[in-house]
Amino acid sequence: MIEANKLSMPNDRNPGPEIIKILLIEDNPGDARLVKEMLIEGGINHHNMKHVDRIGQGLALLAEESFQVILLDLSLPDGYGLGTINRVYGVASRSPIVVLTGLDDESLAVKAVQEGAQDYLVKGQMDSSSLVRAIRYAIERKRTEVALREKEERYRELFDDAPVGYHEVNTEGLITRINKTELNMLGYSLEEMLGQPVWSFIVDEEMVREVFFAKISGILPLGRSFERNYRKKDNSILTMLSEDRILKDMSEGIIGLRTTIQDISAIKHAEEEKKILEKQLRQTQKMETIGKLAGGIAHDFNNLLTVIKGHGELCLEDLPENHPLRGNIEEIEKASESGAILIRQLLAFSRRQTMEMRIVDLNAILRDLDKMLNRVIGDEIQLLTIVAEDIGGIKTDVGQMQQVVMNLVFNARDAMPRGGKLTIEMSSVELDETYCQTHVDVTPGRYVMLSVSDTGCGIPPNIKDQIFEPFFTTKEMGHGTGLGLSTVYGIVKQCGGDIEVHSEIGRGTTFKIYLPRVEKPSESHAPAPAPSSSTLLQGSETIFLVEDDEKVRKFIRDALRKYGYRILEAANGEQALGLVEKHAGEDIHLLLTDIVMPGMNGRDCAECLTAFHPEMKVLYMSGHTEGAIVHQGVLEPGTAFLQKPFTLRALAQKVRQVLENSAGEGERQKEERWGILGKSIPSQTES
Ligand SMILES: Nc1ncnc2c1ncn2[C@@H]1O[C@H](COP(=O)(O)OP(=O)(O)OP(=O)(O)O)[C@@H](O)[C@H]1O
Ligand SMILES: [Mg+2]
Repeated sequence: MIEANKLSMPNDRNPGPEIIKILLIEDNPGDARLVKEMLIEGGINHHNMKHVDRIGQGLALLAEESFQVILLDLSLPDGYGLGTINRVYGVASRSPIVVLTGLDDESLAVKAVQEGAQDYLVKGQMDSSSLVRAIRYAIERKRTEVALREKEERYRELFDDAPVGYHEVNTEGLITRINKTELNMLGYSLEEMLGQPVWSFIVDEEMVREVFFAKISGILPLGRSFERNYRKKDNSILTMLSEDRILKDMSEGIIGLRTTIQDISAIKHAEEEKKILEKQLRQTQKMETIGKLAGGIAHDFNNLLTVIKGHGELCLEDLPENHPLRGNIEEIEKASESGAILIRQLLAFSRRQTMEMRIVDLNAILRDLDKMLNRVIGDEIQLLTIVAEDIGGIKTDVGQMQQVVMNLVFNARDAMPRGGKLTIEMSSVELDETYCQTHVDVTPGRYVMLSVSDTGCGIPPNIKDQIFEPFFTTKEMGHGTGLGLSTVYGIVKQCGGDIEVHSEIGRGTTFKIYLPRVEKPSESHAPAPAPSSSTLLQGSETIFLVEDDEKVRKFIRDALRKYGYRILEAANGEQALGLVEKHAGEDIHLLLTDIVMPGMNGRDCAECLTAFHPEMKVLYMSGHTEGAIVHQGVLEPGTAFLQKPFTLRALAQKVRQVLENSAGEGERQKEERWGILGKSIPSQTES
């Protein structure tokens, strides 16, 4: 009582009856009156109490206003027993309930408290002090309950919405708790995961199971982060960074493990992409370095071969038919011819081959090669060519693109010594950002794809990185130089394309080439018209020769003089300019100039000289590896050009053609182009 009074004094300055807002639901008017009197006696202002005698009325009132405590009779005309508690709870979950019950119903009251009522009072046994105390305790208990519930709710939210997945397992490894984040990550419902062994959701189940028991029994330490691959419901895999902690009960007994998991798949993926890219970059740099080396060698050899070959030819022209040395010189010629083939392949690889770019239709190139391909691959191999119309054009050098196809086909053939299937396919593809992120040197856009697939032996993974290197071959001595794919690589890259290899041992290989699609209308890729039937190689015109390599210059000068021409010569652009002034007023018919020279390059030189002699024709030659021509690797269409090393006859023929203003390529030179392939290609396929 004293305690109750103490509690009832909220305000020391005005110690009047305490105001507690009470709802009394009681159908017995006598009992209701008694309650009122007890409240007054207990120092609680009864004017603040509302009284109804039906549960229905009580619920209606509760829906409108809140009460600090509800005094509830459990046997009302419209509501009896525990159900009444739940009905009140339904509308006023935050108000404490004190159940009023008859003597004979005490057991019901006890159940009511178990169901959520805060206290009960037995009518006939209660007095004002027990009533007031029950009210105060009920209010206090409810407040604590609500606070606890709110705390729990907050904790549950924290648990469920945590940025990491979280689960607990018992000592058998069965999941006992799991948060929403983890359920969402893995795509399962709570029911699907609860009670299941945790390893059944992880890749490499058996190992994970063993590790679990080793951890729970203390054999393995905990607390270190480790990676695990979880299997989602849709079977996809997520890489998780996990961490375990031991779960103990109050008496320090181990009851399971608590694990946090963090999805690091995206980071992993990015790391892998980076690794691929780095590897590609290293590969590209390596190829670049080898290319420079090869290109440098090719440059010097080109000039040497031009001189060796040219002097050989000059000798042969002068030696009588039956001279005993003819055979020796012919051997020298043949050897320099083979050298030239090698050099051109190296030049192609180092992307320093001069390309005569045209916009062409890849379909047409393939159609033209078809007959020959069949002959090359033999009867044992079945060839399937899938052409696709409307794939647009590509900008390339026709001869070199044919070489690309041929080299891939030769490789496919060699990979299928006992026969198989060779498929050449073309299609139009779009390479997007994602593709380009993992492919160095490729820009997004539309490409024409050419794939060459075989059902051959496949490429062992350990040599896959080397196959494009010059002179890398697995073929027996004499069966391969290892320059086929290097040439393909160089040509494709020089055309701004990309190349991909997919291979499986024993199943076959696919090479995919992507070439930038060009939307301009296709030009015919047919070789230029055949030159005039005139085989006249002689001439008497004046030719201005500009060449920095003295030996080459001497050979060309001697050769052209032999054919009757008058030669003015200079070792570089500056000298040439001086010379042209001296010969001002004379007719100079042709400028034959090297493209890359120290100081002024061939193009600038031609520009200056033609200003003095607008009528002068220009023929470029090159075997060089750097400079203007190499930066683009491209000559303007219609520019007359001679690739070093050249034969005497090719030189004479080209000079005549240019002088006669025919842009065409000499028949002989065309033959030589095929010669470059190093494989004999029948002439009927050239059209
Ligand atoms: N389709 C393929 N199937 C299996 N291995 C291949 C295939 N294409 C290329 N290779 C492998 O790549 C190597 C290099 O090929 P590449 O074309 O550069 O040289 P090569 O064919 O050996 O000689 P070359 O082409 O100069 O005559 C081959 O020796 C072979 O091991
Ligand atoms: Mg090859």
